[in-house]
Amino acid sequence: MTISFIGHGYVGLVTAAVFADLGNTVWVVGRTKEKIETLKKGIATFYEPGLSELVKRNVDAGRLLFTLNYHEAVVPSEVIFITVGTPPKDNGEADLKEIFNAAKEIGKNLVGYKVVAVKSTVPPGTNKKVAAILDETKPTGSSFAIASVPEFLRQGQAIGDTMHPQRVVIGTTSDRAQKLLVDLHKPINTKIVVCNVETAELIKYAANSMLSVKISFANAMAFLSEKVGADVEKVLDGVGLDHRIGRSFLYPGVGYGGSCFPKDVKALIAIGKEYGYDFTLLKATDAINDEARLYFIEKIRNHFHGDLQGKTIAVLGLSFKPDTDDMRFAPSITIIEALIKEKARVVAYDPAAIPNAKKVLPKDVIFATSPYEAVKDADAVAVVTEWNEFRQLDMVKLAKGLKERVLFDGRNIYDPQTLKDLGYTYYGVGRM
Ligand code: UGA
Repeated sequence: MTISFIGHGYVGLVTAAVFADLGNTVWVVGRTKEKIETLKKGIATFYEPGLSELVKRNVDAGRLLFTLNYHEAVVPSEVIFITVGTPPKDNGEADLKEIFNAAKEIGKNLVGYKVVAVKSTVPPGTNKKVAAILDETKPTGSSFAIASVPEFLRQGQAIGDTMHPQRVVIGTTSDRAQKLLVDLHKPINTKIVVCNVETAELIKYAANSMLSVKISFANAMAFLSEKVGADVEKVLDGVGLDHRIGRSFLYPGVGYGGSCFPKDVKALIAIGKEYGYDFTLLKATDAINDEARLYFIEKIRNHFHGDLQGKTIAVLGLSFKPDTDDMRFAPSITIIEALIKEKARVVAYDPAAIPNAKKVLPKDVIFATSPYEAVKDADAVAVVTEWNEFRQLDMVKLAKGLKERVLFDGRNIYDPQTLKDLGYTYYGVGRM
């Protein structure tokens, strides 16, 4: 098949590259000349494990094509996926400007019959608005069907998630569109949930919100575990072994970040409000997520008896999660801003996110080129993102660099007793 993607962010570029790899001809439409030129050379525009190779291979094979011109992509395509961003507005609602703009441009270039499928996360009702725009802008004689095909890939594991998703959701009331989309996804070999457009739109928010609820529950249990003297990791092991609950996404820490969970939880609260439903469960989820960061900051502050002035804190891990250089809504931002505000000196290290971190962190932050360099003469080390390379650090070598052996483990990646035996004062999340 020949298909198109409008937008080349995480969802657009990864999905486009995977569908090209499966043998389709895939057009990707962007609007930044520089980025499109880079992509045309087979160079990925952001870091995602395996993506550079995948993009290069398919560009070289002539199956993955990039353009600034909608006409070039839309005309030969049977299916056009909209994969542009839907960032949050100040009131929590999703900003749909880019979606509607893409719909307008697709509409103007429609010829024959096309399926227009929205992959971006959008509130129920958005696809219908896309259909209205297509109707207004399309030339006479052309026709289309709309579909909602939400994306469930995770950054850091995006290629694996796209090649082997746990399900594909196809929301459409058109039999012809359904058949085309089912055919396109056949090589992916997974369960397909077919439903109407509004159901598909809501499934995406429901999935991300449910996962956020699990994380906030884990963080709430961590707060309580510390108070009663329990070990939250054991509590959650004990809970998670029940198959009805499961252990995944029950890891407490400094709260969820990234471009999806914080935004989607707020958006579902806003959707509830619009339709007259007060989503108190998600309001609590969101509030607990803020508390998780604040609680971590408080632990650092308390250790230094409320006075961080002049203290050097080495922060390990800046991206919102490992294996990505993405800093959007990263917990590290709130934590570091608070430390700097309280006049601490912050030396930070991250394996991939430093270039992006420099754009969003306070200018006083000093960046190191290794964890060992970061901790040199520091009064404490705070692990904020659980990159694998931090799990295997030489803790004796680390201790030699530190002024004080104090470690705040924001992701519970170390064994508390081992660190205590090495002379560290250890602070985990929800355990002693
Ligand atoms: C999330 C979903 O997992 C994907 O299914 C979805 O497609 C994507 O959003 C999206 O809507 O585009 P992503 O944001 O890439 O994916 O990352 P996750 O692995 O879900 O992690 C999100 C945040 O939750 C991270 O900050 C992570 O550190 C945190 N987290 C995750 C926890 O604090 N505890 C956990 O147990 C799991």
